[in-house]
Amino acid sequence: MQSRICDMLGMEYPILAFSHQRDVVAAVSKAGGLGVLGAVALSPEALDVELSWLEEQLGETPYGIDVIVPAHYIGDEQGGLEASDLEAFIPQEQRDFVKELLERYSVPELPQDREASSGLLSWSAKGAASLLDVALQHHPRLIANALGSPPPDMIKRAHDGGLIVAALAGRPEHAVKHLKAGVDIVVAQGYEAGGHTGEISTMVLVPQVVDAVSPTPVLAAGGIASGRQMAAAMALGAEGVWTGSVWLTTEEAETHPVVKEKFIAATSSDTVRSRSITGKPARQLKSAWNQAWDSPDGPGPLGMPLQTMLVSEAQLRISRAAATSPGARDLITYFVGQVVGQMNQVKPARRVVLDIIEEYADTLARMAKQLD
Ligand SMILES: Cc1cc2nc3c(=O)[nH]c(=O)nc-3n(C[C@H](O)[C@H](O)[C@H](O)COP(=O)(O)O)c2cc1C
Repeated sequence: MQSRICDMLGMEYPILAFSHQRDVVAAVSKAGGLGVLGAVALSPEALDVELSWLEEQLGETPYGIDVIVPAHYIGDEQGGLEASDLEAFIPQEQRDFVKELLERYSVPELPQDREASSGLLSWSAKGAASLLDVALQHHPRLIANALGSPPPDMIKRAHDGGLIVAALAGRPEHAVKHLKAGVDIVVAQGYEAGGHTGEISTMVLVPQVVDAVSPTPVLAAGGIASGRQMAAAMALGAEGVWTGSVWLTTEEAETHPVVKEKFIAATSSDTVRSRSITGKPARQLKSAWNQAWDSPDGPGPLGMPLQTMLVSEAQLRISRAAATSPGARDLITYFVGQVVGQMNQVKPARRVVLDIIEEYADTLARMAKQLD
């Protein structure tokens, strides 16, 4: 396809796919889109393994990586704090709430001999810098940052290493900040998206961001899982689409089987923007978990990254038990956008790319006829 984004990133179709799973990333890149590996939950060592595997699979075919350095988080003045320093900021009231919630839903304990983890992910400038060190030893074509402008050092090092830099924006002001910081591509992500998301819908956000950063290319994100939605995004001025939810029900995705089943059954009314997993508003499937945390009777979630540290063990406990414990099944949730209502079938990721492109071409042909 003729597209500035395809020329910049070296792919055939302007479809970018965010996923934490390397198999999805590889399948989308092989199908002509660009798979982008979410790296925030990986240690530098694990990222090294994933990127080596991807490059073995893909050869010269391009792929990207995604990190998270939020504009604001606890410890941001120091570029991020150690888990041992952050622990002290977690109040007893929230600790008790987690314990009581798991008891109320009879979620079994984890095995005693498992390896303990602090639950602290790499969402800090220091954490992302270590991931970038690894990325620069490999050959991703793109690095994207979520929740804020990439730090100047990240942009400089990425550009020096020949990478294209993108950043997600939920408001036109954020997009302008990213542009001033020196990003090459802005991802305008609307309210309906899965994961962390703002308050402006894709339909309203994309044209405003396109106008605010022109001629910098914009990718539209949030609510895009079909060719008609892609055509709408391109009509709004985007030069490509950035997708996330739709890959969670592909054959390649190792989404928890209970979550996959819930996604397939869910409608577009079954998601909620909730701070209950990360401390920042993130769209996810409605469940007893977010209902309890978002209830005015509870203590309320903590900020980022404390909430993740607080709940990571509980999340693990819930997912370990969800296949057999009815309480854990009620609690289990995962990030997903409103397009979950369209995700009714498990398909190979390659098929999803091709279905989007075929429907996109049909839509353009149908609309061109209006000019006859
Ligand atoms: C399970 C899940 C996890 C996500 N995690 C991240 C992340 O770590 N970094 C990021 O930039 N975006 C993340 N996102 C947002 C996606 O990059 C993308 O912008 C969003 O999914 C697009 O909207 P859609 O879900 O309607 O396709 C996540 C989305 C989902 C569904």
